[in-house]
Amino acid sequence: MPEAAFDAAAKAYDQNFTYSKIGRAQRALVWKQLEQDLDQQQTKSILEINCGTGEDALQLHNLGYQVTATDISPEMVAVSKHKVDSEVDFKVLGFSELRNAFSPQSFDLIFSNFAGLNCVSADELAKLSEDFYALLKPNGVFIGVYLGKYCWIERLYFSMKGSRYKAKRRQSKSLANIDGVGEQLTFCYSVAELKTIFREFAFKRSRPIGFFIPPSYFETSIGKRMWLMTILGLLERCVGWMSWFSDSADHVYVKFEKA
Ligand SMILES: C[S@@+](CC[C@H](N)C(=O)[O-])C[C@H]1O[C@@H](n2cnc3c(N)ncnc32)[C@H](O)[C@@H]1O
Repeated sequence: MPEAAFDAAAKAYDQNFTYSKIGRAQRALVWKQLEQDLDQQQTKSILEINCGTGEDALQLHNLGYQVTATDISPEMVAVSKHKVDSEVDFKVLGFSELRNAFSPQSFDLIFSNFAGLNCVSADELAKLSEDFYALLKPNGVFIGVYLGKYCWIERLYFSMKGSRYKAKRRQSKSLANIDGVGEQLTFCYSVAELKTIFREFAFKRSRPIGFFIPPSYFETSIGKRMWLMTILGLLERCVGWMSWFSDSADHVYVKFEKA
């Protein structure tokens, strides 16, 4: 049950990730990409899935978009509602409930940030892609940010520590530790695998998110060193536009369009 692990993590999620140096840096990278894809003329209604503590929903709302934000974890949604004193429509909904909950309503954009997609298997993701297709307007867009399958920093770090299992854990399903309070079965996908799963859609682009900015468990060793984060941020800028680095980054940004 994904909600159990994330319910337990909800209260400290912002402190552990959203407001951490690495969390802020990675989210800023996502937003740099998102700003290129958000078209104020065409994008009006947004369905955010796995919204967590509502950080992106709040930002999208402040930019004037009409946002409906969902998550399977009641505790995550409770934190969002507490934080966002606005007209964002928050709902406790798992991925499998989205289509029934919203159909025949449709959206210009469906957005999933930071690894919600990694909580479902390839079969579930294929079903979900069909639901997205049904819930998007013609030419609607799906943007997802998920854990990369071949994150080079993680592979190098755990190989150097002699942990072969952890070095390769993203290459098969594995149990991820959720902030020390729960575990979540996790599936990672290459961009090529995702293109196959989302075959009904036209693939637009992918970008690396965190090719040099490392995974969040480096917060105490790297995130707290401002000078190091500044250098990594500059390096990140150099590769941020190169799609071929996507699979080797901590997260991957993908954009698909309803054909
Ligand atoms: C790592 S958090 C990311 C939260 C948020 N998007 C962010 O940017 O910080 C992953 C979120 O996915 C949600 N999630 C996991 N499995 C889900 C499912 N089957 N349906 C809906 N949400 C799910 C969790 O409850 C959690 O809030």
